[in-house]
Amino acid sequence: MDTTDLRRALGRFGTGVTIVSTLDAQGVPTGVTANSFSSVSLDPPIVLWSLRRASPSLAAFDATGRFVINVLALEQVELSRRFASPVADKFAGVGHTRGLGGLPVVEGCAAVFECRTEQRLEVGDHVLFLGLVEAYGHQVGPTLLYCQGQYAQGVNLETPPPPTPTATRTAPCATAPS
Ligand SMILES: Cc1cc2nc3c(=O)[nH]c(=O)nc-3n(C[C@H](O)[C@H](O)[C@H](O)COP(=O)(O)O)c2cc1C
Repeated sequence: MDTTDLRRALGRFGTGVTIVSTLDAQGVPTGVTANSFSSVSLDPPIVLWSLRRASPSLAAFDATGRFVINVLALEQVELSRRFASPVADKFAGVGHTRGLGGLPVVEGCAAVFECRTEQRLEVGDHVLFLGLVEAYGHQVGPTLLYCQGQYAQGVNLETPPPPTPTATRTAPCATAPS
């Protein structure tokens, strides 16, 4: 199978963009850009994402047994590029608070899901993480999208929904030390 063409075909499936964050072995915040995020179950609340096995970040996700899904807002495209590149300190200069387990929660996201890893499956060249959502939050505003290898923004084809609260959060979140 032509993997380049397969990747092109798979890229026709538009997604949102997330930064999946955790702590490394030294307790330093780290994370990766991932669009493999998906919801699996509402009751219990389970989500999944996958990370390539060769990723230098894999050890951190395995060690903490926790991760935060930070769903990026439209204006956070530069954060997506940053966390998709092999920079040494991904969180340097990135506004964040500390959530459950002291994990970094990126400020200004469309939604965040704080998860405990429930299952880890090695599938081909990726590791699949299934997480139980222990806290979450979301706020209004456009979400960053990704389709055909390019960042994008959505166009609403429906009647706008009734207004929802501007922001909600299920658990308190302490401010990170500066
Ligand atoms: C929009 C977008 C989505 C991505 N999704 C994933 C993903 O779901 N899983 C993955 O392993 N890499 C994904 N990547 C690539 C990683 O972000 C990239 O390999 C990054 O360097 C990983 O960090 P690391 O070097 O610390 O492993 C994605 C990149 C972009 C730009």
